[in-house]
Amino acid sequence: FADGVLAGRRVLISAGPTREPLDPVRFITNRSTGKQGFAIAAAAAAAGAEVTLVAGPVTLPTPAGVARIDVESAAEMHAAVLARAPAHDIFVATAAVADYRAAAPAERKMKKSAETLTLDLVRNPDILADVAALTSGRPFCVGFAAETHDVLAYAEDKRRRKRLDLICANHVGAGKGFEADDNALHVLWEGGSRELPLADKRELARALVALIAERYAAA
Ligand code: PMT
Repeated sequence: FADGVLAGRRVLISAGPTREPLDPVRFITNRSTGKQGFAIAAAAAAAGAEVTLVAGPVTLPTPAGVARIDVESAAEMHAAVLARAPAHDIFVATAAVADYRAAAPAERKMKKSAETLTLDLVRNPDILADVAALTSGRPFCVGFAAETHDVLAYAEDKRRRKRLDLICANHVGAGKGFEADDNALHVLWEGGSRELPLADKRELARALVALIAERYAAA
């Protein structure tokens, strides 16, 4: 891993989960800890990049030399990322963004009454797809695809549909991907792929940043 491979480059990273409120005390979220995204931010900074990290609610310290913006919901993450994306060369979307939010979050705490409760959910905007669709100032776009089965097929479909430069297929499940300290990725691009074998998320992040720098230079 050559130091300085991203010198002079501006890298934007989304990390962690989002929280979608149901009422003032409850929300929908997922198991992302932000560990993988924060490790990529640290590795990109170590490679010489100027790094901006847009983080959902996590309990991790900010990596040295990284500018951090904290958000909660997918809508807030969308606004924070889209406002900054055109000023960056590379966008790495590691965040596990909630696909849906409550259609109308309650203003007061919801009370227990009936035996069953149905929640009305609406789709959240797709942050990565919107960045990749920018017509001016579009950064080099790196996505993640967390899947429990048919990982490569779903990842390739996401790469094409969202028009990404790279996609990192991430096999998740018990003890893998979300929450764990280790992770493994299969990175795909138009005409090529590379496997980054199971390793500590920090080591994997350094290998991924080296690969991103290589593909960015080839683009
Ligand atoms: O945080 P950790 O505990 O370390 O775990 C790391 C991780 C498993 C969360 C991470 O490595 C990972 O795989 N992140 C992507 C999680 C995911 O749910 O991906 P997805 O298949 O829902 O989304 C595909 C891509 O689109 C992702 O790059 C995602 O950031 C992006 N996306 C998705 C939905 C949305 N509304 N906006 C987005 O930008």
